[in-house]
Amino acid sequence: MKILVTGGCGFVGSNIAVFLKKKLRNSKINTLDNLCRRGSYINYERLKRYKIKNYKFNIEDYSKIKKLPKYDLIIDCCAEAAVEVSKKDVDRVFNTNLIGTFNLLKKCVANKSSLIFLSSSRVYSINLLDKLKSKIKKNIKKHFLIDKLLSTNGAKSIYGFTKFSSEELIKEYSYLFKLKYIINRFGVISGPWQFGKQEQGFVSLWIWSHLNKKKLSYIGYGGKGHQVRDVIHIEDVCELILKQINQFSKKHNLLLNVGGGRNNAISLKTLTQKCQIITANTIKFSIKKKTSVYDIPYFVTDNSKVNNLYKWKPQKSIDDIITDTYLWMIVNLNKIKKYFK
Ligand SMILES: NC(=O)c1ccc[n+]([C@@H]2O[C@H](COP(=O)([O-])OP(=O)(O)OC[C@H]3O[C@@H](n4cnc5c(N)ncnc54)[C@H](O)[C@@H]3O)[C@@H](O)[C@H]2O)c1
Repeated sequence: MKILVTGGCGFVGSNIAVFLKKKLRNSKINTLDNLCRRGSYINYERLKRYKIKNYKFNIEDYSKIKKLPKYDLIIDCCAEAAVEVSKKDVDRVFNTNLIGTFNLLKKCVANKSSLIFLSSSRVYSINLLDKLKSKIKKNIKKHFLIDKLLSTNGAKSIYGFTKFSSEELIKEYSYLFKLKYIINRFGVISGPWQFGKQEQGFVSLWIWSHLNKKKLSYIGYGGKGHQVRDVIHIEDVCELILKQINQFSKKHNLLLNVGGGRNNAISLKTLTQKCQIITANTIKFSIKKKTSVYDIPYFVTDNSKVNNLYKWKPQKSIDDIITDTYLWMIVNLNKIKKYFK
């Protein structure tokens, strides 16, 4: 089998590419990434150690995509993945996230390839989810799953819009050209090879900041740090993608919510406590009460559909995620500091 992982030098894409290279011994794994994300070069060096070839060009350039060899499967992990960035850099987010998917769809049709698309839980309406703010007045520990408040109608951030529009385009292509696809709407993903930078996600940022005694802020919803998310370990993501590849001929054209689930739900405040314990450091927090128009108070994924279909559920706990990321950062401290200085 020949597999192309786009965004393959990013956090998720590089982990998937290396994991598949180890597990699918007879398969050819290549990546496409222009290395525009800070830190992608570190992942690129890792891919080279596994003899995974990367095509370095912009996903917006269809003339180059067209010339790539034929792949049986494309796993699309290429995006500007930061929700807040999508407020300021709309052109780039639109072109990378939506035009990028469009280009891959044309390539899939030309070569009769299948597609696994990494979408996001941010395709859901912000205003509806914002209604949960009354629930986070305290640092709640008894978490519940979201169901009735999930609608894709209404504003969802420019990032969310591009992911949702890509999903719709994939379904159109499936209808028109019989393209086979799986769309995974992932919640927060974390784990080793995430560098602890703001744009990459709050869990690794929290661990990195505690490790290096850097100041953090509680932003929005009164600045109390009560926002809640469920977090999934990157290894659980890789295991699921492998199951999806192995069962693809029987199970495709699916839209799935995937996340850490109730057991892996955590508030910022509780994450702070866990980071203090693991690093033995206490850092200063500033309070910024104003809520970003793109923030949501609470999200905990209902994994029941993906559980039932694949007999899959996250194996790694929130404590595993924190420990694995922390240990990886300790080992790679100098490399990360050198690269990001
Ligand atoms: N990380 C998460 O918590 C999370 C959650 C849900 C969904 N996702 C989705 O998973 C995918 C991967 O996310 P990630 O966290 O690994 O992000 P990332 O930023 O680490 O990786 C994205 C990669 O795409 C590359 N890239 C960006 N624009 C490009 C362009 N125009 N041409 C070629 N390459 C380009 C970057 O260099 C980077 O290496 C994204 O589609 C994202 O929307 C991520």
